[in-house]
Amino acid sequence: MGRIYLDHNATTPLDPRVLDAMLPILREGFGNPSSLHWFGQQARAAVDTAREQVATLVGASPGEIVFTGSGTEADNMALRGASAAAREPRRKLVYSAIEHHAVMNTAKALAEDGSPVESARVGADGRVDLGDLRQKVDDRTALVAVMLANNETGLVEPVEDVVRIARERGALVHCDAVQAAGKIPVDARALDVDTLAISGHKIYGPKGVGALYVKRGTRLKSFVRGGSQERNRRAGTENVAGIVGLGRAAELAREEMKTECARLSELRDRLESLLLAVPGAQRNGEGPRVPNTANVSFAGVEAESLVMALDLAGLAVSTGAACAAGAVEPSHVLRAMGLPLERVQASLRFSLGRGTTAEHVDRGAQLVAEAVEKQRRMSRTYVGKA
Ligand SMILES: Cc1ncc(COP(=O)(O)O)c(C=O)c1O
Repeated sequence: MGRIYLDHNATTPLDPRVLDAMLPILREGFGNPSSLHWFGQQARAAVDTAREQVATLVGASPGEIVFTGSGTEADNMALRGASAAAREPRRKLVYSAIEHHAVMNTAKALAEDGSPVESARVGADGRVDLGDLRQKVDDRTALVAVMLANNETGLVEPVEDVVRIARERGALVHCDAVQAAGKIPVDARALDVDTLAISGHKIYGPKGVGALYVKRGTRLKSFVRGGSQERNRRAGTENVAGIVGLGRAAELAREEMKTECARLSELRDRLESLLLAVPGAQRNGEGPRVPNTANVSFAGVEAESLVMALDLAGLAVSTGAACAAGAVEPSHVLRAMGLPLERVQASLRFSLGRGTTAEHVDRGAQLVAEAVEKQRRMSRTYVGKA
């Protein structure tokens, strides 16, 4: 068996059917969608088709979809756009403590620029603490940002409840659905959010392309200035091949979601039960989850070195840690859930995908069990109950 990839929440391989849709654009379809001639109109038609495909995946109208250069840019567009359009006294941003850096660091940057910003706590289960959120969202709140599914734990957040709280106070809601799209049904209109972000490379599409749903009538100030592309919401000649890839990926995700969801949740549960059989293993987070993600801590191990040992053994997994300026920061998500630092630093994320088989799961779990045991033997720090 070759290398096993269980890190689909970091990125997914390009689906060959997506590549097939992109190749004609890269080879011949070079027109600029803003050009009036035939070449331009061919490119425009391809972008329009992709817009419909993305809109269908997220329950929107095509006119409500803005293509961006990434999921990160979509999150930036929502937060910065809403913040710039906000008027005194309604300027505050509230975000959940487990948001992705794309949201969290944008909110922090806005705070540095003088916007009032607050973060809402999450419970030990990993879901937003609605009581705390209710206290922080007030009549001065312009926007509340909450993700649909967390990238580290896979937990599905109570977005409907967040929307209800925000609406009572007249605030807008941004939803980062980057890790939910393609894994669970996403319906922007039913969720009643104002903006919602997705990303191409998390749904077997290309990297460097994303989309933001912007509910019709939502006031967002554009922060990429230039031409009038994307209805003046995002200037710059469109990444046509990337957009076509995102569109096809969205179409496939929707068509295959039901069967893939059932297949993956069975495989994930199998993986998780094998992992939890390792002495000192514990699941991180409780509640509804996307079907492909498991986050497990192994008492007494150092997750960073475990990831490296597993990589040498042919298994790709990850920690939630971020590498900032050469220093490894422990996962802010697991910390926000109140997990002790030792447990956070002993946690691994496993994320399955389209190419994952039962053999991968069984072999992967075996490699983890062996690597954990080896590390414990070498460090002699773990005196388990086994
Ligand atoms: C929840 C979440 N939001 C946003 C992003 C950023 O997306 P992109 O990689 O397209 O910038 C990611 C990527 O890891 C993510 O997991």
